[in-house]
Amino acid sequence: MVKNNYAPFRAKILEKYQQTELDWTYRLECPIKPIFGQFMEVSLPGVGECPISISDFGDGYLEMTIRRVGKVTEGIDKLAPGDVLFLRGPYGNGFPLETFYGKHLIVAAGGTGLAPVKSVINHFYAHPELLKQCDILTGFKTPRDVLFKGDLEKWAQTFRVEVTVDKLDESGNLEVIANSCTRKTGLITSLIPDVRLSSLEDVRVIIVGPPVMMKFTAQEFLCRGLEKENIWVSFERKMSCGLGKCGHCKIDETYVCLEGPVFNFAKAQTLLD
Ligand SMILES: Cc1cc2nc3c(=O)[nH]c(=O)nc-3n(C[C@H](O)[C@H](O)[C@H](O)COP(=O)(O)OP(=O)(O)OC[C@H]3O[C@@H](n4cnc5c(N)ncnc54)[C@H](O)[C@@H]3O)c2cc1C
Ligand code: FES
Repeated sequence: MVKNNYAPFRAKILEKYQQTELDWTYRLECPIKPIFGQFMEVSLPGVGECPISISDFGDGYLEMTIRRVGKVTEGIDKLAPGDVLFLRGPYGNGFPLETFYGKHLIVAAGGTGLAPVKSVINHFYAHPELLKQCDILTGFKTPRDVLFKGDLEKWAQTFRVEVTVDKLDESGNLEVIANSCTRKTGLITSLIPDVRLSSLEDVRVIIVGPPVMMKFTAQEFLCRGLEKENIWVSFERKMSCGLGKCGHCKIDETYVCLEGPVFNFAKAQTLLD
């Protein structure tokens, strides 16, 4: 039987964990084994559909971390364990994991950009012998916006993890952030000059976040002498069908949903405004 890539299927919410005021992680019953960095189209009948990254997966389940911003995500926010939502996918190319084996991997993630790369970090956390070294640089707006605090704490046992916030909120402190991590205020780009690069040829970088963050973060790494071919980014650009049909994601001649969302920076630099 030919699989219909458009056909949504039911996925039961097994668990729901609060990350921030607006972000929740949903564990969904789903047998699919995606590639690290892929996304699904998530829908609610009569409401709509939107692309969401797979933030983690395991035997019989997928996790997605969803920020309440508009009609579909507001509808999902109201759901509870036992309720059902609809998925189709997985779509997109994912990260080229083997390219990072034996290398010094640096992951720079801003805000919800940490979601698509979380499963990659978890993979290497479970197999640290596959990397030479790993640095995780994360940036959020305020301490209240920090995602995956428990995971940051866990990763910091094995990797170097830095968390920066643009500004302190009214709680006025960084203590709410995982305390094994280095905690700072300032933009994520301010962390890059202090990253120790063992040898330039061995460094590979993943950058995920808003386009402006990816652009300036990549520029900082280029200034440190990295080749653009050793940098990868992932786009969370407006998408609709996820299948190369509607054209919503198209930048010039590139369909982000088909060729991405992960791009080598040699190509991505032409796509970032
Ligand atoms: C590959 C990919 C992966 C993604 N992964 C994630 C993820 O892991 N987690 C996550 O939370 N999100 C993710 N997103 C983003 C998510 O798909 C969008 O936030 C999506 O638009 C939410 O749908 P919605 O119907 O809830 O919001 P929408 O109604 O589409 O609103 C989204 C935003 O647009 C604004 N907006 C809506 N309508 C208008 C208008 N008429 N004029 C001006 N502004 C408007 C809203 O204020 C809001 O800020 C991803 C996107 C892509 C492409
Ligand atoms: S999202 Fe429809 S063509 Fe890419």
